[in-house]
Amino acid sequence: MRRKKISIIGAGFVGATAAHWAAEKELGDVVLVDILEGIPQGKALDLFQASPVEGFDARVIGSNGYEETKDSDVVIVTSGVPRKPGMSREDLLEINKKIIESVVTEVVGKSPQAILIMVTNPLDTMTYLALKKSGLTKQRVMGMAGILDTARFKAFIAMELGVSVEDIQALLLGGHGDEMVPLPRYTTVSGIPLSQLLPKETIDRLVDRTRKGGGEIVNLLKTGSAFYAPSAAAIQMTEAILKDKRRILPCCVYLDGEYGLKDICFGVPVKLGANGVEAIIELQLTEEEKKLFAKSAESVKKSIAELKL
Ligand code: APR
Repeated sequence: MRRKKISIIGAGFVGATAAHWAAEKELGDVVLVDILEGIPQGKALDLFQASPVEGFDARVIGSNGYEETKDSDVVIVTSGVPRKPGMSREDLLEINKKIIESVVTEVVGKSPQAILIMVTNPLDTMTYLALKKSGLTKQRVMGMAGILDTARFKAFIAMELGVSVEDIQALLLGGHGDEMVPLPRYTTVSGIPLSQLLPKETIDRLVDRTRKGGGEIVNLLKTGSAFYAPSAAAIQMTEAILKDKRRILPCCVYLDGEYGLKDICFGVPVKLGANGVEAIIELQLTEEEKKLFAKSAESVKKSIAELKL
C-alpha cells in the first residue's frame, strides 16, 4: 500500500507546526514547501531527526519547489503573510491573493487529485480564490476556520467552568472574522446545555472573547498570529479525510444554495471523509442567529468581491 502524502505549503509557524502534528500522528509522509531557501529543508530535517526520539515513522522532506509534492493526497496551504497588531484579516487580502494564485497553480499542476485545505487569511476569501483557480470540485477545496474558532470557544468554556475540554461539544457558523457566529444553543458540557451551567452574561462574554480570539493572540505575540491551534485544526481535517472518518466538523466550504447562500465560501458544519466535503449539514437557526449569519455572510461577500475575479 502506498503511503499517504501530505504537502504543506508555507514552512512558517503554522506550516511547520502542522508538519509536526501530521508526522507525529503518522498520517503519512510530509513535504514542506517554502520560497525561503533552506528553511523548509532545515525544518524538515530537524523534524525527521525528532522521529527516532519520539518514535514516529513518517518521512519528512523540505523543498523550494513542487516536484516533491507530486501526487499528494492532501495539500495544506499556509503560505502568506500573517497579521500584526492593529491589522484585520482583510488587510492581508492583496498580498496573500498573489501568493495563493501562484501556489494553487503549482499545487494542482503536480497533484490534480489532491484535496486542498486552506489556512491563509482572509480565510473564506482565500478558499474561494483557491477553488476558482484550482479547477478542483467544491468537494475538494475547503478552508480551516470553524474548528479553530470552535476550539477557542471550547477552551474558554473549560477555563470558565474549571472542567476538562474533553467534555465540551460546541458549534459555530460563519466567516472567519470578528462577525463569526458561535452557537451557544448547540453547545453542551457532557450533554448538559451550556445555558444550565452558565448565566447568559457569562456566555455572552465568552462568545465575544471567541470572536476576538485571533486578535487576542496577535496582540500578545506582536510579530505574528496564532499557530498551534490553527495547525492542529488543519491536521484534524487532514486526519478525517485520510482515514475516511466522516466526521462532522465546521469548515469553510463552497455554498451553492445551502443556507440560502450562493457562490460564497463560508463556515458551516460538513461531513468530512475520503472524498472531501461529503455533505453540508443545514442547521435550523433562530431569527437572531439568522441575522448574525447574514451579517457575517455580507462581510465575506464584500471581501470576495475585492478579489475582482
Ligand atoms: N510560496 C511558498 N511559501 C511562501 C510563499 C510562496 N509564494 N510566500 C510566502 N511563503 C511563506 C513564507 O516564506 C513563510 O515562511 O509562507 C510562510 C508563512 O509563514 P509565517 O510568516 O510564519 O506565517 P504563519 O503564522 O505560518 O501564518 C500563515 O496562516 O493563519 C494564517 O493569517 C495567517 O495568512 C497567514 C498564514
